[in-house]
Amino acid sequence: MVSTIFPTLNAQLSGLRLDIRTLQPQLSAWRRQIHQRPELGFQEVQTAQFISQKLTEWGIQHQTGVATTGVVAIVHGDRPGPVLGIRADMDALPIQELNEVDYRSQTDGKMHACGHDGHVAIALGTAHYLARHRDRFAGTVKFFFQPAEEGPGGAKPMIEAGVLDHPSVDAVIGLHLWNNLPLGTLGVRTGPMMAATELFHCSIQGKGGHGAIPHQTVDSIVVAAQVINAIQTIVSRSVDPLKSAVVTIGQLNAGTALNVIADSAHMSGTVRYFDPSYKDFFGQRLEQVIGGICQSHGATYRLDYRPLYPPVVNDPDITDLVRSVALAVSETPAGVTPECQTMGGEDMAFFLESVPGCYFFRCG
Ligand code: NI
Repeated sequence: MVSTIFPTLNAQLSGLRLDIRTLQPQLSAWRRQIHQRPELGFQEVQTAQFISQKLTEWGIQHQTGVATTGVVAIVHGDRPGPVLGIRADMDALPIQELNEVDYRSQTDGKMHACGHDGHVAIALGTAHYLARHRDRFAGTVKFFFQPAEEGPGGAKPMIEAGVLDHPSVDAVIGLHLWNNLPLGTLGVRTGPMMAATELFHCSIQGKGGHGAIPHQTVDSIVVAAQVINAIQTIVSRSVDPLKSAVVTIGQLNAGTALNVIADSAHMSGTVRYFDPSYKDFFGQRLEQVIGGICQSHGATYRLDYRPLYPPVVNDPDITDLVRSVALAVSETPAGVTPECQTMGGEDMAFFLESVPGCYFFRCG
């Protein structure tokens, strides 16, 4: 199938580069307009309206309100062929923008700090280009403007709403802007590219009391400290050293006064791993470690463990295609950074679980 997508690409390259350069000022303007109006997950009303307005202007068939605020557009080439999905996430983050640029966020406490404004602009530019050059490709391209990537996740609801059907999608691609790469390059790899993301909250219940009378208490802070130390051994002692994994506790709250033994302690964290065979493993190990330590101290606990996103796994054939196209269109000598990988998570994973595809990073 790879060779049937964009079969005449080489012949079109010089024209393509010129067309992209011509489109560049518009891409930048759209990105800045979206940047000024950041919206959080499942609230991307104005962003969806902006997308719909542009698509309508260009005569592109589309549907709004998919999985709340998602937009699905479809562009047919002049000849029949495979169906490619292009996914762009639309949501912003609850972060205050401190930049002083003239296109800074107009909404206090919200900012496109993860570059999804750029993703929308790039997908819009691609739709604009393809709709004007339907004679240059065979098949169909579907665009998935997706809500809520930052959580709780819009990819799964979109797939459940049937966006991969009618016509059914053969392959899906997507990108994330990634400033860690050298400017003008693309980063990608075959297989796991981004990690599975799982979250947990743990409450440890001890018995409070006076700081000077510890023998009448169960000190939840001491128990929590041992739990935190012991959790470090899950990756170092229980995971195959040839596999990668992370267990991070990012929040710890306990106590109200310096001379009072805290009756309860609360911690929250995240787990990351690439190998899908570790699904369920970390939840079970945390349960064993926390349970064992709490029992030995006479404390009780409650662990809420929630898998959020599976790993982002790239299909070999589609990744080869992305790599070869990137090398062909790149104007920098180091066009592609190989073996690009991060423990960050992404709900693009759900699209890639459903159909073969490739997610990649791009700088500039
Ligand atoms: Ni992002």
